[in-house]
Amino acid sequence: MFGKKKDVPQIDKEQLELIQNAQRRVNQKKRLYIHFVIFLIGSLFLILANLVLGIGKDLKLFDINWFVFAILLWLFLFLYHTFNVFVTHKFMGKQWEQEQLDKLTAQQQLRIEKLKQKFIKEETLMAQSEAYNETKAVSKKNSELTIIVAAGENDAIGKDNKLIWHLRDDLKRFKSLTNGHHIIMGRKTFESFPKPLPNRTHVVITRQENYQVPNGVFLVNSLEEAIDTAENDRQPFIIGGGDIYKQAMNFADKIELTRVHENFEADTLFPKIDTAIWEETNNTFHDVDDKHEHAFSFLTYVKK
Ligand SMILES: NC(=O)c1ccc[n+]([C@@H]2O[C@H](COP(=O)([O-])OP(=O)(O)OC[C@H]3O[C@@H](n4cnc5c(N)ncnc54)[C@H](OP(=O)(O)O)[C@@H]3O)[C@@H](O)[C@H]2O)c1
Repeated sequence: MFGKKKDVPQIDKEQLELIQNAQRRVNQKKRLYIHFVIFLIGSLFLILANLVLGIGKDLKLFDINWFVFAILLWLFLFLYHTFNVFVTHKFMGKQWEQEQLDKLTAQQQLRIEKLKQKFIKEETLMAQSEAYNETKAVSKKNSELTIIVAAGENDAIGKDNKLIWHLRDDLKRFKSLTNGHHIIMGRKTFESFPKPLPNRTHVVITRQENYQVPNGVFLVNSLEEAIDTAENDRQPFIIGGGDIYKQAMNFADKIELTRVHENFEADTLFPKIDTAIWEETNNTFHDVDDKHEHAFSFLTYVKK
């Protein structure tokens, strides 16, 4: 009683109409066939009536028996019937033809409407993506991705995951330039710090899935992701080390280099600065003194 209601198979209206039309067509051909058989029997009967039974024996036109004209007339009617069935297809009537035409027009209009909607959707998406790219381009223009590094004359920057020298004014400059900004670094450089530097947003790059960092430090898996993380900063800094500097040369707009005027033994190097790409815009020399055991120069390069 409360069992699941059985689904009754449904034939949709259009299918039903097609079946009915097919039935009409079969009936129509059947009627033509019956007409043909009656025509044959009727013709035979007319011939017999005239020639055997002598009906209308004297009824002739141009010396031809009347049944010949009767059969010819009937043949003409039969041919007209055949023509209607196979050539003009009128058996379904004008109304049916009009209905089919209307249906087709409605279907085409529906398709056009769908295409229009699709076109509008695609155009909107394209416009949105263009706007996004423009916004990105503008935000990129407004920010200056800067590499900050100290390197010896031989491009040495570190050994055993440590800096090679201690230059007080260089550290001061590093602090004042990066203060309040994002500092982007490789995992090894991050590990070379005793603790995160104050008043800077740290972005650490690693390929490790479960690398743990203190609260407030951003962890990312690529340099591109690191740059995106700092997209609202008008001057994010790449602070090393060697691996990250190498990859960042293509992205950076500026290099703040402290050139230490000596050669050092090192296991990590800064990439060569190609002067065809980079233009030196500032050069300030600092000599050796009681706080600085090496002479050095602050150099600024901007991408041409
Ligand atoms: N003189 C300077 O101004 C200066 C400045 C900074 C550092 N340093 C020195 O540079 C040395 C460290 O440099 P380094 O080249 O050995 O190491 P690094 O560049 O600091 O870090 C390398 C690590 O970063 C991660 N990494 C690099 N590229 C990546 C990418 N595309 N996607 C995801 N993760 C990526 C990997 O971490 P995982 O292995 O965790 O995947 C890789 O092992 C130290 O000696 C340091 O003292 C010098």
